[in-house]
Amino acid sequence: MTEQPEQYAGTVLVAGATGRTGQWIVKSLLQHGIACRLFVRSRQKAVELFGASAEPAIVTGSADNPDEIRRALEGISAVICAIGSAVTDPESPPPSAIDRDAVLRLAALASESDVSRFILVSSLGVTRPEHPLNRYGRVLDMKLEGEAGVRRLFSTGNRTFTIIRPGGLLDGPPRQHRLVISTGDHISGSIDRSDVAEIAVLSLYAPEAANRTFELIRNEEEPQKSLQPVFRMLCDRSAPHRKSEPGASEND
Ligand SMILES: NC(=O)c1ccc[n+]([C@@H]2O[C@H](COP(=O)([O-])OP(=O)(O)OC[C@H]3O[C@@H](n4cnc5c(N)ncnc54)[C@H](OP(=O)(O)O)[C@@H]3O)[C@@H](O)[C@H]2O)c1
Repeated sequence: MTEQPEQYAGTVLVAGATGRTGQWIVKSLLQHGIACRLFVRSRQKAVELFGASAEPAIVTGSADNPDEIRRALEGISAVICAIGSAVTDPESPPPSAIDRDAVLRLAALASESDVSRFILVSSLGVTRPEHPLNRYGRVLDMKLEGEAGVRRLFSTGNRTFTIIRPGGLLDGPPRQHRLVISTGDHISGSIDRSDVAEIAVLSLYAPEAANRTFELIRNEEEPQKSLQPVFRMLCDRSAPHRKSEPGASEND
């Protein structure tokens, strides 16, 4: 049987669209024919990356500003959030401001709007307080708090979430490796941003991804026709469509 993924019909807001993963998310949405809006801090950067034809889809603003977020959310049915702090730049806002507070702000305002689906790019290792990355503004702890808010806000009513915890991010082209999805935050490894983006987009309509938190790394090199089958790894461990993952959810 040929696998024909269904199309996502709504408009998707990409937060952090000019980031290195965000750019791939936009490319993937366009390839899948999914309508999107780009929530960016710099219109100029967005036009340089996506061309003048992207202009109508660009909404400028900061995830620090509730009014700008509300404006960006008008008419949106799903959010893919790929914002992140610049942990090694002392001039930039700390992880508490971006990976926790900005994510929580975006999720809260999205949950008050017509958004029914929230997909968050988080990080592998968030449940390990002793992880070396936590030396940088406790970035993983902050991400875990952001995750918890997304799970809480998007596991009730008609709202669903997907939290993707990628390994170390690389800049290779998409679909060149087998992927590994796991839960429980036990694995380590790396993955291409392009593949994280593709999984984020497929999560919009993969039933196995609804209300799930999972880690994602790449395995051996082997060109892939589609990344859709990787979601089957989630079915093996538990039933899909779970509304929430209580208790274990923060570690699962
Ligand atoms: N680096 C790794 O190895 C690694 C591993 C696992 C997970 N992650 C996480 O994966 C995600 C994507 O990583 P990446 O390397 O693609 O990130 P990136 O290139 O640094 O992009 C981060 C994005 O966040 C945006 N941003 C920051 N503060 C913002 C604010 N206040 N309002 C709106 N947008 C804001 C940036 O906007 P501008 O474009 O305007 O700068 C940029 O688009 C991040 O959450 C990161 O922490 C990274």
